[in-house]
Amino acid sequence: MSPLAVRNLNKSFKALQVLKDVSLEVQDEERHVVIGPNGAGKTTLFNCIMGTIPLTSGEVLLDGRNVGTLPTHARVPLGMSRTFQKNNLFESLTVEENVHLAIEARKPYRFGLFKPLSWRADLLEESEELLRRWDLWGRRERKVRELSYGEQRLLEVLLALASKPRMLLLDEPTSGMSPAETAQTIGLIQELPRSLTLLVVEHDMEVVFAIADRITVLHHGEVFLSGPPEEVRGDERVREIYFGGGARHDA
Ligand SMILES: Nc1ncnc2c1ncn2[C@@H]1O[C@H](COP(=O)(O)OP(=O)(O)OP(=O)(O)O)[C@@H](O)[C@H]1O
Ligand SMILES: [Mg+2]
Repeated sequence: MSPLAVRNLNKSFKALQVLKDVSLEVQDEERHVVIGPNGAGKTTLFNCIMGTIPLTSGEVLLDGRNVGTLPTHARVPLGMSRTFQKNNLFESLTVEENVHLAIEARKPYRFGLFKPLSWRADLLEESEELLRRWDLWGRRERKVRELSYGEQRLLEVLLALASKPRMLLLDEPTSGMSPAETAQTIGLIQELPRSLTLLVVEHDMEVVFAIADRITVLHHGEVFLSGPPEEVRGDERVREIYFGGGARHDA
């Protein structure tokens, strides 16, 4: 059974139908990338999968269970986590404070008066491990707003990982990054444990082909094609959809 499947998903904003009968399946340990021109419906698909917005009809199956009507906060404990296309950080707090909040949010005792004695030491250890892995340890005392844009995007991925998800959804993780930051991010994504299933929206084809095991192409809210990278790369129609329509390739 695949850890994440979307079945016949439809989403309309009033009269505008943005997703049309979208079905896709993300296999265990798969790195699945969704591509498509601006406005194809990629972020809307992510929002429906995470429950950030309600879907109009269809199913989101997590390990075979339909979570399509659960609110986001009920999906996170089931192992889902995401980043946003635009930063979603506490800018006036330090990097480390953001990480602590994200780790704390996972703990069952977070609102309780009585925390385990090891609470503080565990928190610091976990936070340090994440910050070092994502190369932000040296920046931990900085306020988030003092970081470069690329560092903020990296921090977002780190925070999404703090909930210890089994499945991580990344929406354009490298948008707005410098080439060096993009290369660093590719490396960090490649180093993520295989046990973490990834669903990524990405515009930068270098990133797409560096991380994808499978690619789904969305076009006008419909799945146009889903297949291994070599199949998508060689498909003339995809080239036409993606590059022929004056699509933006910056952010
Ligand atoms: N809250 C909303 N209300 C109305 N229309 C919306 C809303 N959110 C998105 N849309 C519309 O849905 C369509 C798909 O938007 P979406 O953001 O999902 O595209 P995308 O594939 O993520 O594009 P991009 O590559 O620019 O990020 C667009 O036409 C957009 O204007
Ligand atoms: Mg988007």
